[in-house]
Amino acid sequence: MHTAIWGTTRTGKSSLAKEMARVYQSMGIKVLVHDPVFDSTWPADFKTDNFELFLEVYWESEGCMCFFDEAYKSCFHKNDAAIATATMGRHRGHINHYIAHRPTMIDVTIREQCTKMFLFRIGKKDAKLVAEDWSEDVLLRCNEFKQGQYFEVEKMGEVHERRLF
Ligand SMILES: Nc1ncnc2c1ncn2[C@@H]1O[C@H](COP(=O)(O)OP(=O)(O)OP(=O)(O)O)[C@@H](O)[C@H]1O
Ligand SMILES: [Mg+2]
Repeated sequence: MHTAIWGTTRTGKSSLAKEMARVYQSMGIKVLVHDPVFDSTWPADFKTDNFELFLEVYWESEGCMCFFDEAYKSCFHKNDAAIATATMGRHRGHINHYIAHRPTMIDVTIREQCTKMFLFRIGKKDAKLVAEDWSEDVLLRCNEFKQGQYFEVEKMGEVHERRLF
């Protein structure tokens, strides 16, 4: 249902997410963004660095593509308000995209609700965890990826290796 975007710093996560947001908007789908470091270049119908305000708009809206950038600031372990977006957001017709440097920075319930993943370079230990969670040994190779290189993976689906730049 939801999407995870993992990768160490400067790998291209936000660039890919912004490209996806642009495509969604061109399809007439509304985009909501929470970005704690507030990057003004996000293509979005609503964007904020304030998580409480983001959640207000999130729960008032329907059928949006929602991006949680630097999600370790909002979707950390046991943050119930964030967990609700993963477990209940679908009832509002939302699809969420959780973006973080390391999967372990994000609450496990949120991670388990992600059925799609864009995996840039991450450390060996994290790559092992992701490979196990997604039952795909090939994902271990993300540890050697260059900037802009990533796997696109669907739960119980195929793994595609791609390049953003
Ligand atoms: N099309 C491109 N061609 C070449 N380099 C690019 C391109 N797009 C992005 N980059 C480079 O990649 C860098 C990182 O991009 P981005 O901000 O998407 O990374 P990130 O994974 O979100 O990093 P962070 O975790 O620090 O937020 C950019 O600063 C830029 O130098
Ligand atoms: Mg970023």
